[in-house]
Amino acid sequence: MSALRASAPATRGRPAATDAPRRGRPPARNEILRAGRLGGLEPENLARRFGTPLYAYDLGVVDRQVAALRAVLPPGFELAYAVKANPALAVVRHLARRGLGADVASGGEIEAALRAGVSPATIVMTGPGKRDDELVLAVRTGLRAITVESLGELERLERVAAREGRVVPILLRAAVSPEVALERVRLVGDDGAGKFGMADDDLRLAARRAARSAHLEPLGIHAFGASNVVDAEALARHVERTVERARAVAAEAGFTLRLVDAGGGLGIPYEPEDRELDLAALGRRLRSIRNRLEGDATTRDARVLLEPGRFLVGPAGAYLARVVDRKSVDGAHVVILDGGIHHLLRPALVGQEHRIRTFGSNGGPRPKAFPVTVAGPLCSGLDVLTSQAVMPPPAIGDLVAALDVGAYGFTESMPFFLSHPTPAEVVISDGEARLARRRIEPREWLAMQEVP
Ligand SMILES: Cc1ncc(COP(=O)(O)O)c(C=O)c1O
Repeated sequence: MSALRASAPATRGRPAATDAPRRGRPPARNEILRAGRLGGLEPENLARRFGTPLYAYDLGVVDRQVAALRAVLPPGFELAYAVKANPALAVVRHLARRGLGADVASGGEIEAALRAGVSPATIVMTGPGKRDDELVLAVRTGLRAITVESLGELERLERVAAREGRVVPILLRAAVSPEVALERVRLVGDDGAGKFGMADDDLRLAARRAARSAHLEPLGIHAFGASNVVDAEALARHVERTVERARAVAAEAGFTLRLVDAGGGLGIPYEPEDRELDLAALGRRLRSIRNRLEGDATTRDARVLLEPGRFLVGPAGAYLARVVDRKSVDGAHVVILDGGIHHLLRPALVGQEHRIRTFGSNGGPRPKAFPVTVAGPLCSGLDVLTSQAVMPPPAIGDLVAALDVGAYGFTESMPFFLSHPTPAEVVISDGEARLARRRIEPREWLAMQEVP
């Protein structure tokens, strides 16, 4: 292939724009794509070294997201990385080394956090439907807090704690109020269907029971608002409501409020025209929440925990695949990649297309842009990364990257469907790429099967 060049980025329904900063434009996003390279490296070199398709995560981008968020957090606010966003050990370890705790949702995620070097005293566990063996693991590990999602789970956890001879620190998860549920519908299109946390009566009953228990130590409450919120005011309102609710629940049940966990949900831009979260505005609102906590002797020492996932790692990731086929169907340009929704399900799952960039030699110096459909190799009409992106159609052999896939990318996908190899996962830092998880070939999972 001749010298590589990043083509103009794809835009939907609009002519393509270039990456070059222009006067009056907002500053460049903190993301893995910079000057036509991924984390400072030539995409073709990454592809040759690790094979395609592959995921690349730029740890420098993660560092800048962490630093930007920390810079606006008032004292008493802490971060636990939501491992579900990207459980690659190299990513979790990187965040642990930066001093973040972890939010885990399963026994497997407890193991991942421990293997990544996260201290148990900074791990919180939240998630509906925790099995007894997961509760036992959580109790034996000595987590910072286990979030209880129902009265039944409270009973099960108390039994486990008694059997293990422990006093277990817990949070009680509040179902989001109808007001927040409505906001969630407005922001993300669903209300969580009532599967998370407890309604007010159960929450208060659980708090009273926990406060009387010899084996449970209630610290406060947990509430998750909505995902991918870029509205600083909406995020701050959620934190504020959660703090107020926690204060009321603790006062009524008679325990000292020590921890309020407001979950994650800090959003990132996906579409070119999406705005970024206004961190300065968020920080100002969080400071006034902190001041109110400090002004009350009963809440002065309470800590507030945020569990961001997407915000920290989303912009750091790219999914890189190679064009295998190209055709024109009734005048429409279609390119087929060696990767698709089996590795990056989000576009099909939540209807969110990712920004697409091509790296290649096609089209000459002034390539013409057309609406292009970029699809994967699966025998499913859902396997489309973007439809009608306006860009120069990539040629066979070119590389195509989907951006902003560092969170809820590979981990939220369906890698066994149609028996293609899994993508390698690679971390980039200081201009160096290192393998984080090797590609797994179908013959390897075939070898794990029996035909009884
Ligand atoms: C309990 C909990 N905490 C944190 C997160 C992370 O959310 P986000 O990645 O949107 O910040 C989630 C996501 O589902 C969650 O369920």
